[in-house]
Amino acid sequence: MELVFVTNNPHKVEEVQNVLGDKIKILTLKDVNFFEDIPETGQTIEENALQKARYFYQKTHRDCFADDTGFEVEALNGLPGVHSARFASDHDFEKNMFKVLELMQDKTNRKARFRTVIALILNGKEYLFEGIVNGYVTQQPLGSNGFGYDPIFVPDGYSQTFAQMSLEQKNKISHRARAVEKLAEFLKKNLAF
Ligand code: IMP
Repeated sequence: MELVFVTNNPHKVEEVQNVLGDKIKILTLKDVNFFEDIPETGQTIEENALQKARYFYQKTHRDCFADDTGFEVEALNGLPGVHSARFASDHDFEKNMFKVLELMQDKTNRKARFRTVIALILNGKEYLFEGIVNGYVTQQPLGSNGFGYDPIFVPDGYSQTFAQMSLEQKNKISHRARAVEKLAEFLKKNLAF
């Protein structure tokens, strides 16, 4: 069976393919020659994931899924959240991260979480899967692996930031991995493989 991951990020595809094994072939947008700009204008992470999956499905009628992730800081009322990619500046990881640290300067509650939502469209029906990893915001960036807010986030039960962990270690416990595991469980049950 083939399933299109509505993304252009080969790292994400690899991560998902690893969890799903070889019974399902994950294709990227490039693999299916889909080069349109897909809108991402939702007000929530759920809306964005659904918007991306629906856009692709409406044009192609192929089974597919899309993901969206936000970094949610409790003392900032859930911000940057759905605005994570462009909190200070569009896809500038460093500026976005320092904006969070600045807003957190006088905050004692440092609780935060990453939340990923995957929207799947299978035979025209929609399903959502959520993956969360709880933790806290550090006082300063630590480590240089990963991307985005990884240098300022320590997951609960660990003493290192995501950026200090190996990619392998992060991928085992990450929000995306948790959402993907739920997707994989669902597919295994419903497609009986
Ligand atoms: P996307 O929905 O996967 O494109 O993620 C949106 C934004 O959330 C990214 O631009 C990053 O700033 C942030 N983000 C997503 N996943 C991660 C992660 O695993 N670590 C750190 N930041 C992330």
